[in-house]
Amino acid sequence: MVDGLDQIIAAETVLSEVDGQEGRLIIRGYPVEALAARFSAEQATALLLDGFFDAVPSAAQIGTARVRVFEQLIDVAPRLARLDLYEGMRAAVALLPDGQSLDEALMLIAAPAVFTPLLLRLRSGRELVAPDPAIGHAADIIRMLHGRPGDALQARALDAYLVTVCDHGLNASTFAARVVASTRAGLTSAVLAGLSALKGPLHGGAPGPVIAMLDAIAAHGEPRAWLAARLREGERLMGFGHRIYRVRDPRADALKAALRVLGQSPAAGERLVFAETVERTALDLLREAKPDRPLHTNVEFYTALLLEAVGFPPEAFTCLFAAGRTAGWIAHAREQLATGRLIRPQSRYIGPQADLAA
Ligand code: ACO
Repeated sequence: MVDGLDQIIAAETVLSEVDGQEGRLIIRGYPVEALAARFSAEQATALLLDGFFDAVPSAAQIGTARVRVFEQLIDVAPRLARLDLYEGMRAAVALLPDGQSLDEALMLIAAPAVFTPLLLRLRSGRELVAPDPAIGHAADIIRMLHGRPGDALQARALDAYLVTVCDHGLNASTFAARVVASTRAGLTSAVLAGLSALKGPLHGGAPGPVIAMLDAIAAHGEPRAWLAARLREGERLMGFGHRIYRVRDPRADALKAALRVLGQSPAAGERLVFAETVERTALDLLREAKPDRPLHTNVEFYTALLLEAVGFPPEAFTCLFAAGRTAGWIAHAREQLATGRLIRPQSRYIGPQADLAA
């Protein structure tokens, strides 16, 4: 029995490789830093899905899928807007057909991208903005959020984010998606499993709390004192530590590079400098507090800053993680279906034995 399944290889994949000792992430042959700097979200989707469907999706097909999701689900949106944002987005996904076709896959990829800005606008009483299939995926998400086109740098930064998080080995949500896919349930079921696993704060739910932590430290004024007190109380510092990486998470640097391009306004620049101070201090304190456990910055720390700079509120951060990761879940689900068997590990019974003779 291996608690947490560390070191257990449960699948072979052509999709991504995570090297936790060297701090490297390769996605279909490309280092994540290069992918984030050069690819759009649509290109990353095509890269991941290539070979898992009869055709490779184009940017135009992804744009059309955004429109179809909007048109098919707009009627239920006001009811979904009454739920927690992530739960509303997940409920929208649950309403999509549960098949195996490329069209269905693209609607699943489009759903978090459309429903995150749509539900945010509904919740704040603003007019809805329909998707525009003619513009880029990231640029359209920003347009649907703000009601006007964002600048090119913002779209580039969001593209870099969506690409950076598109796949990451057999993490908890991808494993959940593969388990469901292995039962031959449809892609919607597999994506819902991934969405549910991603929600937790130990996985995709951390970037919102990163902002809460930065704001609390800013209000307190003394990063070292604030962080040391949290560690003394046994709390975890959000945005640090990782199950696999024993060095810095390469995605943190990919996002920091994207943020530097974006951080042109004095306010954004100041926030980045402050976050870097917090990061340095947290790393010092973690080294002192846990000398035997290498704890470094993970993807969530700079995710929080990037998504904040693009204009998303913290409650939307996990939804955007899902918008990026859905293509990875779908590629893994199709790979599991094509190459794997039903996933069915065993448990060891350590409960009581009833004494039937008594
Ligand atoms: N702050 C303080 N201490 C920490 C942190 C942290 N961020 N992370 C781990 N530790 C400590 C644990 O308390 C534990 O100490 P102990 O042995 O004295 O009890 C030790 O390091 C090992 O912790 P584990 O829980 O075994 O580490 P695991 O590999 O299971 O956890 C995880 C990884 C969940 C990411 C953890 O580091 C954490 O909770 N981080 C904060 C939340 C976070 O940033 N989540 C996003 C992860 S990135 C992603 O999933 C996309």
